[in-house]
Amino acid sequence: MDGVTVIDHPLVQHKLTLMRKKETSTASFRRLLREISTLLCYEVTRDLDLTTTRIETPMQEMDAPILEGKKLVFASILRAGNGLLEGMLDLVPAARVAHIGMYRDHDTLQPVEYYFKAPEDLANRLIIVVDPMLATANSATAAMEKLKERGAKNIRFLCLLASPEGIQRFRDAHPDIPVFTASIDEGLNEKGYIMPGLGDAGDRMYGTK
Ligand code: PRP
Ligand code: URA
Repeated sequence: MDGVTVIDHPLVQHKLTLMRKKETSTASFRRLLREISTLLCYEVTRDLDLTTTRIETPMQEMDAPILEGKKLVFASILRAGNGLLEGMLDLVPAARVAHIGMYRDHDTLQPVEYYFKAPEDLANRLIIVVDPMLATANSATAAMEKLKERGAKNIRFLCLLASPEGIQRFRDAHPDIPVFTASIDEGLNEKGYIMPGLGDAGDRMYGTK
């Protein structure tokens, strides 16, 4: 689908399978999510613009490539987004961070917002929003609206698993925002969970169930 990139790197797919397994422990799940997020970060940033800066190596001067423009912003949709955020920050330690506190009401499947904190000047920065799960897309869609209200213009969305319904809904609501995911699964069950999925990402990361 236009605007959707499935990151099919073998290491990503292998680690994702380990994460999906129900017997994978909380500690392993967290470690795998952190590892996978560095690989996903590599893909979601692969076309960033470069400029050059004059440096001196021990041998001679040269014009060496560096990232162009203002520092990136990684925006984590809490809680589970933080599992992706940590690995992303391992790769881009100077990135700015936004936190979007949002949980999905279990009955209505509507997002409930409880926190928002972002750098002030979102308009001039690339913002990569991270959340492992795109299910109904209610949470991600609301998070994008919030960022746009605060001036964000250049946004990408990175998740681990997506449902076909969620991708469609997200792209309809935000056709300007490209989606990167490691898998598009079969669909949603009657409770809005991704099938076959990996269960509740937040609970599996933090051992809360
Ligand atoms: C999960 C997930 C997404 C949301 C996806 O979070 O991390 O934010 O559900 O579902 P949706 O696409 O149907 O909105 P959850 O609400 O369980 O909160 P948590 O991260 O705090 O566990
Ligand atoms: N949130 C999750 O953590 N898992 C799903 O399958 C759907 C929403």
